[in-house]
Amino acid sequence: MSGSFGIIGCGYVGSAVAAHFRNNGYEVVGTTTSSERLAELCDLVDHPRIYRAGDPMADDSFFNRLDGVLIAIAPTTSSSEVDQYEKVYGQAVPALVDALRQRKGPSPLHVTYLSSAGVYGDQSGAICNELTPPDCSNNTNALLASAESSVLALNEASIQACVLRLGGIYGPGMDIPSYIRSAAGQSVRKNGNHINAWVHLHDIIRGIEFAFERQLQGIYNLVDDLQFTRRQLSNALCDDHGLPPVIWDNHDRPGARIFNARVSNARLREIGFQPSVGSMLDPVAAA
Ligand SMILES: NC(=O)c1ccc[n+]([C@@H]2O[C@H](COP(=O)([O-])OP(=O)(O)OC[C@H]3O[C@@H](n4cnc5c(N)ncnc54)[C@H](OP(=O)(O)O)[C@@H]3O)[C@@H](O)[C@H]2O)c1
Repeated sequence: MSGSFGIIGCGYVGSAVAAHFRNNGYEVVGTTTSSERLAELCDLVDHPRIYRAGDPMADDSFFNRLDGVLIAIAPTTSSSEVDQYEKVYGQAVPALVDALRQRKGPSPLHVTYLSSAGVYGDQSGAICNELTPPDCSNNTNALLASAESSVLALNEASIQACVLRLGGIYGPGMDIPSYIRSAAGQSVRKNGNHINAWVHLHDIIRGIEFAFERQLQGIYNLVDDLQFTRRQLSNALCDDHGLPPVIWDNHDRPGARIFNARVSNARLREIGFQPSVGSMLDPVAAA
């Protein structure tokens, strides 16, 4: 496929997607909120832009010429977590959705929105899929889920929108296996019995391309195949290197945001997408 593809938020994921789409013949528009990062984007995309979703003065006229758009924004400031999440997911994403709805482009638009498998929250380690309601007992999850809903409400004749719920990301520059091994023999104040979900950056890029090519609508979990507890994962990573185990708590810290769910990727698999990296234990995960 070819066409014009916009990436709102050229951070870690957005920049990698930009490089891939550009190499594959798309005309790429990429955004940052800061003038300092604009020069960086000049080497990465065809049309670098400063754009801050939620800023009423933001110039969003470039939306009119896009065939596809990736929303890959995340809080990057150092204010408290609640403030940051409210600003990005409670305010910026709905404002961006409104701007997309009001675009003046004649052609259809496909929207991919990156969310987090963390919205499943505390499922007591049960298997969950896209039909499982998010755990909105946690305020952050409730915000993330409401941002997803605002994006999905875009679906109509001329806009098709999907949400990809990502696991925790590993890949180049995000060496999670080494990070976990660096805690070998030490106590970590997190519940080791909880199951988290993960995904390699390479599969995120593939998943975003797949979503655009197939014009997906609705929610899809984009996670790898591993459904280990923190303890099982760290044991496997440390054993591999002859290191002592990480010592995890067996209980939750009061007020901690819990993620304990076996997140299924069956829905994407059923339509022909499978992760190329099964887990971070896979030797190719280091690439
Ligand atoms: N990292 C993970 O493990 C993980 C796990 C699950 C889901 N995700 C999701 O994956 C997506 C991408 O994550 P990432 O790691 O690539 O994030 P990142 O590196 O922190 O990049 C975030 C990008 O969002 C931009 N941004 C922030 N506020 C904005 C606003 N109001 N308007 C427009 N752009 C804005 C930032 O602009 P500047 O260039 O100016 O900084 C930056 O380019 C996020 O939606 C995140 O929730 C990540």
